[in-house]
Amino acid sequence: MASIALVTGAAGGFGRELVKLLLQEPGLDEIWCVARSKDKLDALRGELGEKIVPIPLDLTQRDSLTALQARLEGERPDLRFLINNAGFDKFGPYDAVDVDTSLNMIDLNVSAVVALGLTAIPYMGRGSHILNVASQAAFFPLPYMDLYAATKVFVRHYTRALHVELKDKGISATAVCPGWMKTGLFDRAKTGADKTVRSFAGLTTPDKVAAKALRDAKRGRDMSTCGLFVKATHVASKLVPQRLAMKVWTLSQGIR
Ligand SMILES: NC(=O)c1ccc[n+]([C@@H]2O[C@H](COP(=O)([O-])OP(=O)(O)OC[C@H]3O[C@@H](n4cnc5c(N)ncnc54)[C@H](OP(=O)(O)O)[C@@H]3O)[C@@H](O)[C@H]2O)c1
Repeated sequence: MASIALVTGAAGGFGRELVKLLLQEPGLDEIWCVARSKDKLDALRGELGEKIVPIPLDLTQRDSLTALQARLEGERPDLRFLINNAGFDKFGPYDAVDVDTSLNMIDLNVSAVVALGLTAIPYMGRGSHILNVASQAAFFPLPYMDLYAATKVFVRHYTRALHVELKDKGISATAVCPGWMKTGLFDRAKTGADKTVRSFAGLTTPDKVAAKALRDAKRGRDMSTCGLFVKATHVASKLVPQRLAMKVWTLSQGIR
Protein backbone atom coordinates (compact mmCIF):
# COMPACT_ATOMS: atom_id res chain seq x y z
CA MET A 1 0.00 0.00 0.00
CA ALA A 2 1.49 3.35 -1.07
CA SER A 3 1.96 6.06 1.53
CA ILE A 4 0.85 9.34 0.03
CA ALA A 5 0.12 13.02 0.59
CA LEU A 6 -2.62 14.86 -1.31
CA VAL A 7 -2.13 18.60 -1.84
CA THR A 8 -4.64 20.84 -3.61
CA GLY A 9 -3.54 24.07 -5.26
CA ALA A 10 -0.12 22.47 -5.62
CA ALA A 11 0.76 24.17 -8.93
CA GLY A 12 2.16 27.35 -7.38
CA GLY A 13 2.35 29.69 -4.40
CA PHE A 14 1.86 28.23 -0.93
CA GLY A 15 0.90 24.76 -2.20
CA ARG A 16 4.14 24.38 -4.12
CA GLU A 17 6.18 25.21 -0.98
CA LEU A 18 4.22 22.60 1.00
CA VAL A 19 4.92 20.00 -1.70
CA LYS A 20 8.66 20.78 -1.59
CA LEU A 21 8.68 20.22 2.19
CA LEU A 22 6.64 17.01 1.93
CA LEU A 23 9.32 15.59 -0.36
CA GLN A 24 11.61 15.62 2.69
CA GLU A 25 9.11 13.62 4.79
CA PRO A 26 10.39 10.08 5.37
CA GLY A 27 8.25 7.21 4.08
CA LEU A 28 6.08 9.13 1.59
CA ASP A 29 5.95 7.27 -1.74
CA GLU A 30 3.86 9.76 -3.73
CA ILE A 31 2.53 13.28 -3.53
CA TRP A 32 -0.75 13.65 -5.37
CA CYS A 33 -0.81 17.22 -6.64
CA VAL A 34 -4.12 18.77 -7.67
CA ALA A 35 -4.67 22.02 -9.61
CA ARG A 36 -6.43 22.99 -12.85
CA SER A 37 -3.30 23.54 -14.94
CA LYS A 38 -1.91 20.26 -16.30
CA ASP A 39 1.10 22.09 -17.76
CA LYS A 40 2.08 23.55 -14.39
CA LEU A 41 1.65 20.20 -12.64
CA ASP A 42 3.74 18.42 -15.32
CA ALA A 43 6.41 21.11 -14.88
CA LEU A 44 6.34 20.50 -11.13
CA ARG A 45 6.99 16.79 -11.71
CA GLY A 46 9.78 17.68 -14.15
CA GLU A 47 11.36 19.90 -11.52
CA LEU A 48 10.74 17.94 -8.31
CA GLY A 49 10.80 14.34 -9.54
CA GLU A 50 8.73 11.21 -9.92
CA LYS A 51 7.12 11.23 -6.49
CA ILE A 52 4.95 14.05 -7.84
CA VAL A 53 1.70 12.66 -9.26
CA PRO A 54 -0.06 15.36 -11.32
CA ILE A 55 -3.86 15.30 -11.02
CA PRO A 56 -5.29 18.14 -13.12
CA LEU A 57 -8.80 18.85 -11.81
CA ASP A 58 -11.04 21.85 -11.20
CA LEU A 59 -12.19 21.33 -7.60
CA THR A 60 -15.25 23.54 -8.07
CA GLN A 61 -16.72 20.81 -10.30
CA ARG A 62 -18.60 17.94 -8.67
CA ASP A 63 -17.19 15.52 -11.31
CA SER A 64 -13.66 16.33 -10.12
CA LEU A 65 -14.49 15.40 -6.54
CA THR A 66 -16.09 12.17 -7.75
CA ALA A 67 -12.96 11.40 -9.80
CA LEU A 68 -10.73 11.88 -6.75
CA GLN A 69 -13.01 9.68 -4.67
CA ALA A 70 -12.84 6.95 -7.35
CA ARG A 71 -9.04 7.19 -7.47
CA LEU A 72 -8.77 6.82 -3.69
CA GLU A 73 -11.21 3.89 -3.77
CA GLY A 74 -9.25 2.25 -6.62
CA GLU A 75 -5.79 2.62 -5.06
CA ARG A 76 -6.71 2.54 -1.34
CA PRO A 77 -3.49 4.37 -0.30
CA ASP A 78 -2.32 5.16 3.21
CA LEU A 79 -3.04 8.90 3.17
CA ARG A 80 -0.59 10.54 5.59
CA PHE A 81 -1.28 14.19 4.74
CA LEU A 82 -4.36 15.82 3.23
CA ILE A 83 -3.67 19.49 2.50
CA ASN A 84 -6.71 21.47 1.37
CA ASN A 85 -4.90 24.53 0.08
CA ALA A 86 -6.56 25.59 -3.20
CA GLY A 87 -8.44 28.85 -2.78
CA PHE A 88 -8.84 32.34 -4.22
CA ASP A 89 -9.65 35.86 -3.10
CA LYS A 90 -11.33 38.91 -4.70
CA PHE A 91 -10.53 42.48 -3.64
CA GLY A 92 -13.28 45.12 -3.82
CA PRO A 93 -16.85 45.87 -2.72
CA TYR A 94 -19.60 43.23 -2.79
CA ASP A 95 -20.81 44.31 -6.24
CA ALA A 96 -17.37 44.12 -7.90
CA VAL A 97 -17.81 40.34 -7.99
CA ASP A 98 -20.67 38.66 -9.89
CA VAL A 99 -22.88 35.91 -8.51
CA ASP A 100 -21.12 33.10 -10.42
CA THR A 101 -17.67 34.12 -9.19
CA SER A 102 -18.94 34.49 -5.63
CA LEU A 103 -20.46 31.02 -5.64
CA ASN A 104 -17.34 29.63 -7.31
CA MET A 105 -15.30 31.02 -4.41
CA ILE A 106 -17.54 29.27 -1.89
CA ASP A 107 -17.30 26.05 -3.96
CA LEU A 108 -13.49 26.11 -3.84
CA ASN A 109 -12.71 27.73 -0.47
CA VAL A 110 -15.43 25.93 1.48
CA SER A 111 -17.28 23.08 -0.29
CA ALA A 112 -14.20 21.40 -1.74
CA VAL A 113 -12.52 21.47 1.70
CA VAL A 114 -15.48 19.69 3.27
CA ALA A 115 -15.95 17.22 0.40
CA LEU A 116 -12.28 16.23 0.24
CA GLY A 117 -12.01 15.82 3.98
CA LEU A 118 -15.06 13.57 4.18
CA THR A 119 -13.80 11.56 1.19
CA ALA A 120 -10.25 11.23 2.49
CA ILE A 121 -10.64 10.45 6.21
CA PRO A 122 -11.45 6.74 5.63
CA TYR A 123 -7.98 6.37 4.06
CA MET A 124 -6.16 8.08 6.93
CA GLY A 125 -4.68 6.19 9.89
CA ARG A 126 -3.25 7.13 13.27
CA GLY A 127 -0.55 9.81 13.07
CA SER A 128 -1.85 11.30 9.83
CA HIS A 129 -2.64 14.97 9.32
CA ILE A 130 -5.22 17.22 7.68
CA LEU A 131 -4.13 20.80 6.99
CA ASN A 132 -6.92 23.11 5.85
CA VAL A 133 -5.64 26.48 4.67
CA ALA A 134 -7.69 29.29 6.21
CA SER A 135 -6.16 32.76 6.63
CA GLN A 136 -5.43 35.62 8.97
CA ALA A 137 -8.59 36.97 7.26
CA ALA A 138 -10.51 34.52 9.47
CA PHE A 139 -9.88 36.64 12.57
CA PHE A 140 -12.17 39.61 11.71
CA PRO A 141 -14.98 40.53 9.28
CA LEU A 142 -13.17 42.36 6.44
CA PRO A 143 -15.06 44.89 4.29
CA TYR A 144 -13.88 44.93 0.62
CA MET A 145 -12.80 41.32 1.02
CA ASP A 146 -16.08 40.31 2.65
CA LEU A 147 -16.85 36.92 1.13
CA TYR A 148 -13.26 35.64 1.15
CA ALA A 149 -12.86 36.47 4.85
CA ALA A 150 -16.17 34.72 5.59
CA THR A 151 -15.08 31.56 3.74
CA LYS A 152 -11.93 31.48 5.83
CA VAL A 153 -13.90 31.83 9.09
CA PHE A 154 -15.76 28.70 8.01
CA VAL A 155 -12.51 26.82 7.34
CA ARG A 156 -10.99 27.87 10.66
CA HIS A 157 -13.99 26.95 12.81
CA TYR A 158 -14.78 23.75 10.91
CA THR A 159 -11.19 22.51 11.11
CA ARG A 160 -10.76 23.17 14.83
CA ALA A 161 -13.99 21.33 15.60
CA LEU A 162 -12.96 18.47 13.31
CA HIS A 163 -9.66 18.23 15.21
CA VAL A 164 -11.57 17.45 18.41
CA GLU A 165 -13.77 14.87 16.67
CA LEU A 166 -10.78 13.12 15.06
CA LYS A 167 -8.75 12.79 18.27
CA ASP A 168 -9.94 9.21 18.87
CA LYS A 169 -8.73 8.22 15.41
CA GLY A 170 -5.28 9.76 16.07
CA ILE A 171 -5.69 12.18 13.13
CA SER A 172 -4.91 15.88 13.57
CA ALA A 173 -6.70 18.70 11.73
CA THR A 174 -4.92 22.05 11.60
CA ALA A 175 -6.41 25.35 10.44
CA VAL A 176 -3.46 27.13 8.83
CA CYS A 177 -3.90 30.90 9.12
CA PRO A 178 -1.26 32.66 7.02
CA GLY A 179 -0.92 36.42 6.80
CA TRP A 180 -0.14 38.03 3.43
CA MET A 181 2.30 35.92 1.36
CA LYS A 182 3.91 36.76 -1.99
CA THR A 183 2.05 34.38 -4.35
CA GLY A 184 -0.14 34.45 -7.44
CA LEU A 185 -3.22 35.15 -5.26
CA PHE A 186 -2.88 38.94 -5.66
CA ASP A 187 -3.19 38.98 -9.47
CA ARG A 188 -6.24 36.76 -9.43
CA ALA A 189 -7.82 38.87 -6.66
CA LYS A 190 -7.81 42.17 -8.60
CA THR A 191 -11.22 43.36 -9.80
CA GLY A 192 -10.38 46.88 -10.97
CA ALA A 193 -12.59 48.38 -8.24
CA ASP A 194 -11.67 51.83 -6.87
CA LYS A 195 -12.35 50.85 -3.29
CA THR A 196 -9.99 47.94 -2.95
CA VAL A 197 -7.46 46.19 -0.76
CA ARG A 198 -4.07 47.75 -1.47
CA SER A 199 -2.02 47.49 1.71
CA PHE A 200 -0.46 44.18 2.67
CA ALA A 201 0.97 44.60 6.16
CA GLY A 202 3.29 41.85 7.36
CA LEU A 203 3.85 40.49 3.83
CA THR A 204 6.12 37.43 3.91
CA THR A 205 7.26 34.55 1.72
CA PRO A 206 5.29 31.28 1.62
CA ASP A 207 8.26 28.99 2.44
CA LYS A 208 8.46 30.07 6.11
CA VAL A 209 4.72 29.80 6.59
CA ALA A 210 4.68 26.33 5.01
CA ALA A 211 7.46 25.07 7.29
CA LYS A 212 5.64 26.37 10.38
CA ALA A 213 2.34 24.85 9.21
CA LEU A 214 3.84 21.38 8.82
CA ARG A 215 5.61 21.67 12.19
CA ASP A 216 2.37 22.67 13.90
CA ALA A 217 0.42 19.86 12.22
CA LYS A 218 2.99 17.27 13.37
CA ARG A 219 2.78 18.67 16.90
CA GLY A 220 -0.98 18.09 16.77
CA ARG A 221 -1.97 21.77 16.92
CA ASP A 222 -5.46 22.69 15.76
CA MET A 223 -4.31 26.07 14.41
CA SER A 224 -1.10 27.38 12.86
CA THR A 225 0.00 31.01 12.81
CA CYS A 226 3.39 32.23 11.63
CA GLY A 227 5.12 35.49 12.55
CA LEU A 228 4.56 38.25 15.06
CA PHE A 229 2.10 40.23 12.93
CA VAL A 230 -0.30 37.32 12.50
CA LYS A 231 0.00 36.28 16.13
CA ALA A 232 -0.72 39.87 17.27
CA THR A 233 -3.77 40.00 14.97
CA HIS A 234 -4.99 36.76 16.50
CA VAL A 235 -4.63 38.12 20.03
CA ALA A 236 -6.33 41.37 18.95
CA SER A 237 -9.29 39.38 17.60
CA LYS A 238 -10.01 38.28 21.18
CA LEU A 239 -9.75 41.81 22.62
CA VAL A 240 -10.80 44.40 20.03
CA PRO A 241 -14.51 44.98 19.19
CA GLN A 242 -15.19 43.86 15.62
CA ARG A 243 -16.72 47.21 14.59
CA LEU A 244 -13.54 49.03 15.66
CA ALA A 245 -11.34 46.44 13.94
CA MET A 246 -13.28 46.87 10.67
CA LYS A 247 -12.80 50.65 10.92
CA VAL A 248 -9.04 50.27 11.42
CA TRP A 249 -8.85 47.80 8.51
CA THR A 250 -10.72 50.03 6.02
CA LEU A 251 -8.65 53.08 7.05
CA SER A 252 -5.45 51.05 6.69
CA GLN A 253 -6.57 50.25 3.12
CA GLY A 254 -7.07 53.96 2.38
CA ILE A 255 -10.86 53.49 2.08
CA ARG A 256 -13.19 56.15 3.54
N1 LIG B 1 -1.23 34.62 -0.60
C1 LIG B 1 -1.73 35.07 0.54
O1 LIG B 1 -1.48 36.22 0.93
C2 LIG B 1 -2.61 34.17 1.38
C3 LIG B 1 -2.85 34.56 2.71
C4 LIG B 1 -3.65 33.74 3.51
C5 LIG B 1 -4.17 32.56 3.00
N2 LIG B 1 -3.92 32.21 1.70
C6 LIG B 1 -4.51 30.97 1.19
O2 LIG B 1 -3.47 30.12 0.73
C7 LIG B 1 -4.01 29.21 -0.23
C8 LIG B 1 -3.08 29.15 -1.43
O3 LIG B 1 -3.11 30.41 -2.08
P1 LIG B 1 -1.83 31.05 -2.78
O4 LIG B 1 -1.57 32.31 -2.09
O5 LIG B 1 -0.75 30.06 -2.93
O6 LIG B 1 -2.48 31.42 -4.20
P2 LIG B 1 -2.07 31.01 -5.67
O7 LIG B 1 -0.62 31.27 -5.90
O8 LIG B 1 -3.08 31.70 -6.54
O9 LIG B 1 -2.30 29.44 -5.72
C9 LIG B 1 -3.58 28.88 -5.79
C10 LIG B 1 -3.46 27.43 -6.22
O10 LIG B 1 -4.78 26.89 -6.29
C11 LIG B 1 -4.99 26.31 -7.58
N3 LIG B 1 -6.40 26.47 -7.92
C12 LIG B 1 -7.06 27.64 -8.11
N4 LIG B 1 -8.34 27.40 -8.44
C13 LIG B 1 -8.49 26.04 -8.44
C14 LIG B 1 -9.57 25.18 -8.71
N5 LIG B 1 -10.78 25.65 -9.07
N6 LIG B 1 -9.39 23.83 -8.63
C15 LIG B 1 -8.15 23.33 -8.30
N7 LIG B 1 -7.09 24.11 -8.03
C16 LIG B 1 -7.26 25.45 -8.11
C17 LIG B 1 -4.04 27.08 -8.50
O11 LIG B 1 -3.66 26.37 -9.67
P3 LIG B 1 -4.49 26.48 -11.04
O12 LIG B 1 -4.67 27.94 -11.34
O13 LIG B 1 -3.67 25.74 -12.03
O14 LIG B 1 -5.78 25.78 -10.78
C18 LIG B 1 -2.83 27.27 -7.59
O15 LIG B 1 -2.05 26.10 -7.60
C19 LIG B 1 -5.43 29.72 -0.55
O16 LIG B 1 -6.37 28.94 0.17
C20 LIG B 1 -5.41 31.14 -0.02
O17 LIG B 1 -6.70 31.58 0.34
C21 LIG B 1 -3.13 32.98 0.90
